[in-house]
Amino acid sequence: MKTTRLIFLMVLALSIFACASDSEDDFVDTGNDIENPDDTDDTDDTDDDTDDDAEPLVNYVDDIEPIMSAACVSCHGAPPTNGAPFALVNFTQVSQRANGIFNRMNLSNGAPGAMPPSGRLPQSTIDLIQQWIDDGKPEN
Ligand code: HEC
Repeated sequence: MKTTRLIFLMVLALSIFACASDSEDDFVDTGNDIENPDDTDDTDDTDDDTDDDAEPLVNYVDDIEPIMSAACVSCHGAPPTNGAPFALVNFTQVSQRANGIFNRMNLSNGAPGAMPPSGRLPQSTIDLIQQWIDDGKPEN
């Protein structure tokens, strides 16, 4: 009799602890299974392919600096000579004056103020200046 009551009490105690434990777990677990929708990058694959094939941007170091060195710095050097008003020997100087540089280079051959004064450079060279401006004037 005594043993039966003891076992009954133990089972009762265990089931109370088990229930308490279960209800705590249930409470903690609620809402944990919500998953965010997958962020798939697959849709960008076609764009990546076209980017790989895109032409590199016109940049100062590779494209513009050589033009300035060949045609402009004989007067627009540091310091400027032959009455040239400023130097065009680094990225900051050239990028700040890019529009003026293009406008002077794009004047008709022999027009007053045309640069360089010795004669208009090839159209492909002037187009490179325009493309550099359109590309956002990257340094390299
Ligand atoms: C033979 C010397 C000489 C060369 C070479 C030369 N320039 Fe000039 N440049 C001058 C002189 C002098 C002036 C000032 C008179 C004037 O504005 O036309 C000037 C003015 C300029 C101006 C306008 C300045 C202002 O006040 O806004 C720009 C822009 C310019 N040059 C760009 C260039 C570029 C770009 C090249 C090369 C493609 C070049 N120059 C080559 C002598 C030269």
